[in-house]
Amino acid sequence: MSQEQWTAVDSYTGKLLIPQDTTLERASRASREAGLPDVEVSPHQGKLLHLLARVHGARTVLEIGTFSGYSTIWLARALPADGKLITIESGILFAKAAAAHIEEAGLAHLVDQRVGKALDVLPQLAAEGAGPFDLCFIDADKPGMPEYFRWALALSRPGSVIVVDNVVLGGSLVESAGTDPAVDGARALHDMLAAEPRVSATTVQTVGAKGYDGFTLAVVGE
Ligand code: DHB
Ligand code: MG
Repeated sequence: MSQEQWTAVDSYTGKLLIPQDTTLERASRASREAGLPDVEVSPHQGKLLHLLARVHGARTVLEIGTFSGYSTIWLARALPADGKLITIESGILFAKAAAAHIEEAGLAHLVDQRVGKALDVLPQLAAEGAGPFDLCFIDADKPGMPEYFRWALALSRPGSVIVVDNVVLGGSLVESAGTDPAVDGARALHDMLAAEPRVSATTVQTVGAKGYDGFTLAVVGE
């Protein structure tokens, strides 16, 4: 199996199952034109997040790592009219680009953008009494994964769903620790999950137009 084949299959299923969406495509294209890296979730993964939020009946969503707002738009579109999505981004240029994309998508009334380092903003959210969130999507810097997961758990309730992007990292997850801080982050996340009685989790490997990676899905228990 090759990248070419994964891309072809994503293209085939995407054409059939994921309607062309000018707002999302523009958000993605504008990000490239602004020199932002191509690190949004793929359309397939974006739709998976959207469907997960719908299956779960999520009314409140926390996103750690807004980036271009691409996944934010997919998630916010799953919310009811009185829903709320709080999204955190430390990159000011990313946050500005995301604000424009979210506005253009007609979702600004549902989305509360917070600009700052997640480890500064998350305690502020807790102090404000924000949450518990029905669903949390973690897609920020990879070394921060375990700390972000700890905060997501703190801002959750029994039944909350937590999704973490990029936990397989092209298979590097199984390489030895200490060479790549992103891999260390993903491994520490898994160690934490193994020892955490409050969550039940799985990690699913993925291939597609954006290569080989994977995500962790966790549900918070009693
Ligand atoms: C990178 C970050 C992501 O969130 C992603 O999905 C892919 C790549 C990166 O920083 O390289
Ligand atoms: Mg990602």
